[in-house]
Amino acid sequence: MKLLVIGSGGREHALAWRLAQSPRVETVFVAPGNAGTLNEAKLQNINISTHEEMIKFCQKEKIAFTVVGPEAPLSAGIVDAFERVGLAIFGPTQYAAQLESSKDFAKAFMQKYHIPTAGYQTFSDAVAAHDYVNQKGAPIVIKADGLAAGKGVVVAMSLEEAHGAIDDMLVGNKMGLAGSRVVIEDFLEGEEASFIVMVDGEHVLPMATSQDHKRLLDHDSGPNTGGMGAYSPAPVVTDAVFERVMTQIIQPVIDGMKAEGHAYTGFLYAGLMIDQTGAPFTIEFNCRFGDPETQPIMMRLESDFSELIEAALAKKLDQVQAKWSDKAAVGVVLAAKNYPDTPETGQVITGLDTVTNTEQKVFYAGAKNSEDKVLVSGGRVLCACALGASIAKAKEQAYELVEQIHFDGMQYRHDIADKAIK
Ligand code: AMP
Ligand code: GLY
Repeated sequence: MKLLVIGSGGREHALAWRLAQSPRVETVFVAPGNAGTLNEAKLQNINISTHEEMIKFCQKEKIAFTVVGPEAPLSAGIVDAFERVGLAIFGPTQYAAQLESSKDFAKAFMQKYHIPTAGYQTFSDAVAAHDYVNQKGAPIVIKADGLAAGKGVVVAMSLEEAHGAIDDMLVGNKMGLAGSRVVIEDFLEGEEASFIVMVDGEHVLPMATSQDHKRLLDHDSGPNTGGMGAYSPAPVVTDAVFERVMTQIIQPVIDGMKAEGHAYTGFLYAGLMIDQTGAPFTIEFNCRFGDPETQPIMMRLESDFSELIEAALAKKLDQVQAKWSDKAAVGVVLAAKNYPDTPETGQVITGLDTVTNTEQKVFYAGAKNSEDKVLVSGGRVLCACALGASIAKAKEQAYELVEQIHFDGMQYRHDIADKAIK
């Protein structure tokens, strides 16, 4: 069968690569794809972008199903558009995708269904927002309501920083429309984890646990980014924590969305803060797989991924299981100079063809082909991944890979997975 993956990042490279391993899969088209998906066996880039173009393409090529990588097409209603013409697509509807596309929607939903999360209020008036933070004190968290590619959150350790963030978003318009409303929420302490599941409207199939590294620099310093590296599994998610997340967070979302008349289908990602007692709190929902979490998670998936997605589309996720490698996986993101502010692009990337080991894999993101060279074309450029008998071993092998790769201005963290090793 032929499949379509929508997106151009490292996540989509990993999803498409894993889908293509199935003997049942003939071709995975990637729209638009990147320099990595261009050179991968059974993958084919296709330069289409509008919903209409994609629908026509799927009809013409008899695509068995489409998987949506990023949030933007979901929040623009691509699933609704495909479903209207009877095409199979795995993702949430535009309504359900509001769990990610509006922080205010997500917070109100969590409050209604008693899902543990930080206390909050929403503001579009700067004066009222300033008053609220004065009353609450710091640390406090200021979030743009709309989609901001992981960059719309300021964890303010001082009141000064909090006031600055409010002015940037509500007065200075720094986040555009996404920041014309802000959610101000209580500061949560603990350890973060990414909890990603597949949902078919009713049943849930959990993916392997993982942990991202959101800050740009070592020891969780510097600005927030889309994610600088990830590992799987996340030891902080013990069996007891896993059960709590399923019963207190995931199941209430599925039941709640169903009760609202908008059954949730697709990947659902709960960003968690797990406190010292093992109690999970929801920091955010994403209505898609995580990037870079996808890359190490896909390294570990041993099941036929196309069969899992078909089961989800048939609303039979309760009848399948996902098999994971006992090995751990670590992925280190290599980012362009000046990421996340204004990444510099165009540099030549070298050392990409040195992988000989089946336990190592470089997924491409902001990288494009130009004649016989691969050039930096975006903020997060590559994700160097490796499996290993332990997280420490996987880390060692991932950094071995990093050391072979070079481009001018390349930045990366040196401490990916250390939290799980200590
Ligand atoms: P978000 O985009 O909502 O996931 O937020 C980005 C990052 O900001 C998270 O991964 C956390 O590290 C941090 N963060 C968000 N909300 C909170 C909170 N209420 N308390 C502490 N840290 C937070
Ligand atoms: N890695 C965080 C995200 O995908 O939102």
